[in-house]
This record gives sequence, structure tokens and C-alpha cells, in this order.
Amino acid sequence: MNEPRATADIYDLPEYYDIIFADEWEAEFDFLRFCFDRYVDGPTQRLLEPACGTGRLLVELHGVGYTVAGVELNEKMTRYCRERCPGADLLSGDMANFRLDQFAHSEPFDAGFNMINSVRHLLSEELAVAHFRCMAAAIRPGGIYIVGLHLTPTIGQPLEDETWVATRDDVTVTCHLETYDRDLDARIERASLGYDIEKNGHEVQVVGDLSFRTYTAAQLQQTLQTAGGWRIAATYDFTYDQDEPIVVGEVSEDVVYVLQRL
Ligand SMILES: C[S@@+](CC[C@H](N)C(=O)[O-])C[C@H]1O[C@@H](n2cnc3c(N)ncnc32)[C@H](O)[C@@H]1O
Repeated sequence: MNEPRATADIYDLPEYYDIIFADEWEAEFDFLRFCFDRYVDGPTQRLLEPACGTGRLLVELHGVGYTVAGVELNEKMTRYCRERCPGADLLSGDMANFRLDQFAHSEPFDAGFNMINSVRHLLSEELAVAHFRCMAAAIRPGGIYIVGLHLTPTIGQPLEDETWVATRDDVTVTCHLETYDRDLDARIERASLGYDIEKNGHEVQVVGDLSFRTYTAAQLQQTLQTAGGWRIAATYDFTYDQDEPIVVGEVSEDVVYVLQRL
């Protein structure tokens, strides 16, 4: 029998987040390693993921020999990440307000990454600029910061919802992501993120609200210009096709920016 739908801060449920978002880590992992080789000036050893969540990518990168670190605001995510990736140098804090000397090892990083929209959780220009400045202070010149986000196209309608399913052991999670209340003047949109969790014949439904700041390509460029310290070295899309860099245009939605630290 189905249980009634509960509401929650969806980031307070890292074990289900990890099932649904860690399922297809390989494409991102391969793409990240390609970017480190192609765009970092010099060797890449030290990696930083702001808003690292469960550490689904940190654990894989640590497993092949990188030194990894993360910043995460949600305590349940941080705790889960510490258990999943004990080798990570984790800072429990805000990606818009951290310093290199707060990490256990305070040498600058060679590269940072932020693959699925977390930058958009910073809901004001002030916070977004502060974030890119924190990252510029943490990453050495010649290093890179890879930022994936959904842009709001200036021509055409954006995608409104997605549903996908992942299974780990005896748990199957169906995830529904639906965008609503998009206010392009205030530059805020809300999304409902719901999990249908199925375990041993029981189904539980949990749903939570998330707020995202909207960006067009021009707005992102403006934020980067205000922050200073970065140049856009290349752009790709969420297919992570290394052979197909894209030109960002009026209809672009899923974009991965490779920023190089000046
Ligand atoms: C979409 S998840 C991404 C997690 C991870 N980067 C990944 O790729 O799976 C967004 C994460 O950002 C965290 N977060 C939101 N605002 C934050 C902030 N200001 N500073 C640090 N983490 C934040 C959330 O707690 C959540 O774990």
C-alpha cells in the first residue's frame, strides 16, 4: 500500500539523492578528467567541489588518485559525504563564504567543479559574485573551474520537467523534477523535486521545493565579469561529449562552462 506523500528538505535525504544522482557518474567523471588534461595549465592533483552533496564524484576521483576537497552547507549531506569519501578534506560551510585556509590542507587547488546547477542555489548577484571570488581565491592561476548549469533560453520555451529512475540494491527511486513559478524579472524559479521510493514492496513518496536563480548566457557573463579572475575557456553541453564543444546561443539550455583562472 502506498504511504501518503511527505514534504521534506530533499537535501536532508542524502541516501536517496545518492541513488538517483550517482547512477550515471561515469560520463561526468570522464569529462572532468578530459577537462583537467585539456584545460589546466600544468598538472592536476588537488580538486575542489563546492556544494559537493553526497560526494558522488569526489569518491570516484579520489579512487583514481586525486586529492579531493568539498564545501557543503547541509549537515546531513556533509555527514553522508564524510562516510562515503573519508579521504575528502570537507568543509561544512557556505560556498559563497569560505577561504582556502579553512581546509585541513590549504595549498591552492588545481581545479574545481560544480556540475549540476548548484551555483544557481545562490539567489542573489551578491552571493554569486562572492562565490566566484571565493573560487578564484582557492584555485591557482592556470587552474580551471567547470560549472554546469541550466540557462534560461532567450528564444524558445525551456524544458519544464523530467522524470528518471535509478536502483541500488533493493531500493528503487523514481525522481520527478518540475519547474514552476519562473519569475524572470526577479530571476528566481522554483522547482519541485519528488522521490517515489520503493523498497520491499513498500512505496513512500517525498517531495520538496528548491529555489534556483535564473541565468541567461549574458547574465552569467556579467556575473563572471563582476567577480573577475576568470575567462571562459570552452563550453560544452550536458552530453559531456569531449569532441563537441558548443557555441552558446539564444536557445542554449544545458551548458557546461570551463572557466580558466587568470
Ligand atoms: C544539486 S545538489 C549537487 C550536489 C553535488 N554537487 C552533485 O553533483 O551531486 C546541490 C547541493 O548544494 C548544496 N548547497 C546549496 N546551497 C549551498 C551553499 N550556499 N553552500 C554550500 N552548499 C550548498 C545543497 O545542500 C546540495 O547538497
